[in-house]
Amino acid sequence: MKELRLVEPSEVYKDSYMEMYEEWKRSGEEFTPWSLGLDPSDFPALIERLQGYSEGIDVPSNFVESSTYWLIDESLRVLGGVNIRHRLNENLSARGGHIGYGIRPSERRKGYASEQLRLALDIMLEMGITQVLITCDTDNPGSARAILKNGGVLDSEAIDGETGKPFRRYWIHLL
Ligand SMILES: CC(C)(COP(=O)(O)OP(=O)(O)OC[C@H]1O[C@@H](n2cnc3c(N)ncnc32)[C@H](O)[C@@H]1OP(=O)(O)O)[C@@H](O)C(=O)NCCC(=O)NCCS
Repeated sequence: MKELRLVEPSEVYKDSYMEMYEEWKRSGEEFTPWSLGLDPSDFPALIERLQGYSEGIDVPSNFVESSTYWLIDESLRVLGGVNIRHRLNENLSARGGHIGYGIRPSERRKGYASEQLRLALDIMLEMGITQVLITCDTDNPGSARAILKNGGVLDSEAIDGETGKPFRRYWIHLL
């Protein structure tokens, strides 16, 4: 597999990021994690906003501080991204978990989500998050496989109050 890295958002990746954003939009699929769906038309403003969210600046209500990283390959092509919440609130404990992630539609089924999650867990450990809650829809086998391959232990299944869809809660114990 290609050598992948998680990087902080930066203007260095602008062209490739915009290409990923447009691809995702064309697909009609919801952006996941949510931070990949933020309007990138003013790119410096996007970078500043993401930086702010990681520092607790202008965080939307009912959200917590979170850090977004982009997944890139050796040619600096952006393949996906993760959003790491620094802590859980009531909503995240019940539904959202510590981390959201996604791979751009054209680059799926190549092992990238599994590797992206592994890299994100390294960052989380460095941040001092040792017990990681991850949730995924029960009908999302790709995400579930990536979680299980990274040591996820099934905790419970519940029903999303808004969509009525079942989802599963997993813990990854890093220590
Ligand atoms: C879910 C998602 C992140 C998976 O990304 P990916 O890069 O395709 O995942 P991987 O290639 O690492 O696949 C992990 C495993 O799941 C399997 N898999 C991936 N997609 C699958 C699918 N649609 N159906 C069945 N199995 C699938 C792979 O074969 C692999 O299994 P293996 O390791 O036993 O060979 C990606 O489909 C995506 O971004 N979806 C939209 C956003 C999303 O759902 N995010 C997760 C929210 S919890």
